[in-house]
Amino acid sequence: MDKAETFIKHNSPAEREAKYAIDKLAQLIPWKDNCNILDIGCGTGNVTHYILLPVFPKSTKNVIGVDNNKSTIEYANKNYGLENKLTFQQVDVVSDSTFFENYEKTFDHIFSFSCLHFVREQETALNNQHLQNIETRGRFQLLLRGIQ
Ligand SMILES: C[S@@+](CC[C@H](N)C(=O)[O-])C[C@H]1O[C@@H](n2cnc3c(N)ncnc32)[C@H](O)[C@@H]1O
Repeated sequence: MDKAETFIKHNSPAEREAKYAIDKLAQLIPWKDNCNILDIGCGTGNVTHYILLPVFPKSTKNVIGVDNNKSTIEYANKNYGLENKLTFQQVDVVSDSTFFENYEKTFDHIFSFSCLHFVREQETALNNQHLQNIETRGRFQLLLRGIQ
């Protein structure tokens, strides 16, 4: 069983948590028109595609999901990739600073669900995202494991 299959088998608690959180958050987020959105630690893209995409504004320009796992990113692109709309890239949020430099001031909204509690170097990861990416008055929604 490869990482993508293992991930799908064991990820339903994370998906439930993401659904619970987005149902509460979506109404409160001051969505920007024509926005670009980043999903950090997207895994196989299930949450990005089934849970996040439906609540994003219709005018959303581009959604990128990133994860450091090659196999889950391949699965996500194969099953959920939509050219010029939803794409997935293999990126380590701690060490791949090039990605964040390339997309400087690009994202209006950044989501990260059930990912950063796995990351030991959280300060480095958060500095990448906050300082170089998010636009002025952009929003960063973070969900760490903890909801029962
Ligand atoms: C529990 S899954 C959550 C996936 C998805 N966000 C969801 O809510 O279902 C955590 C994901 O974080 C990814 N991850 C862990 N450390 C990472 C890192 N340093 N950079 C990018 N992704 C990372 C893992 O590969 C895994 O796919």
